[in-house]
Amino acid sequence: MSTDALVVLKEDHAEVKRLFRAFEKTDDAAKRGELAEQIIFKLKLHTEVENTILYPQILKTLPDLKDEILESYEEHHAVDLIIAEIEKLKPTAENFEARVTVLIENVEHHIGEEEDEWFPKVRKALGRDELLQEWGEQMISKMQEMQSGLTVDLTEEVNTPR
Ligand SMILES: [Fe+2]
Ligand SMILES: [Fe+2]
Repeated sequence: MSTDALVVLKEDHAEVKRLFRAFEKTDDAAKRGELAEQIIFKLKLHTEVENTILYPQILKTLPDLKDEILESYEEHHAVDLIIAEIEKLKPTAENFEARVTVLIENVEHHIGEEEDEWFPKVRKALGRDELLQEWGEQMISKMQEMQSGLTVDLTEEVNTPR
C-alpha cells in the first residue's frame, strides 16, 4: 500500500463515501445510527490528521496554498459543528436523517475542494517527493494510535456504572 499522503487521504475519502452511500440506502433507524457513528468516527480521525499533520506541513512547504488551506480548516470546523449537533440526537429523531444528510453534503463539497482544487497543486509542486511519503506515514500511525485510544475510551464509558 502506498504511504503517499495524498493517496492515503484519497483512499480514506473513498471509504467514507462508501459509508455515506450505505447511510442513504438504509431505511432502518438502528442501522442509520450505527452508520452515522462509523461516519463520525472516521471523519474525526481524518480531520485530526489533516489538521495536525498535512495542513501545517503544506502551509510550511507551499505557502502559496495558504488561502486554500485556511478555507479547508474552516470547512473542517463547520463539519465539527454539524457533528456536535448530530451527537445530540437519537437515530430515531425525526430530523436525524436530515442532519446527517447535511453533514454528508458538507463533507462531499470539502472532499471535492481537496481532491479537485488543491491536492493537484500539491502533486504538481512536489511530485512523488519523499516528504509526501513521510507525511503519509505520520498520518497512518496517528490514525492507528487514535483508533486504539478511542476504542479504549468507548470501553471505559460502557464499563462506568451510572
Ligand atoms: Fe480529506
Ligand atoms: Fe479535509
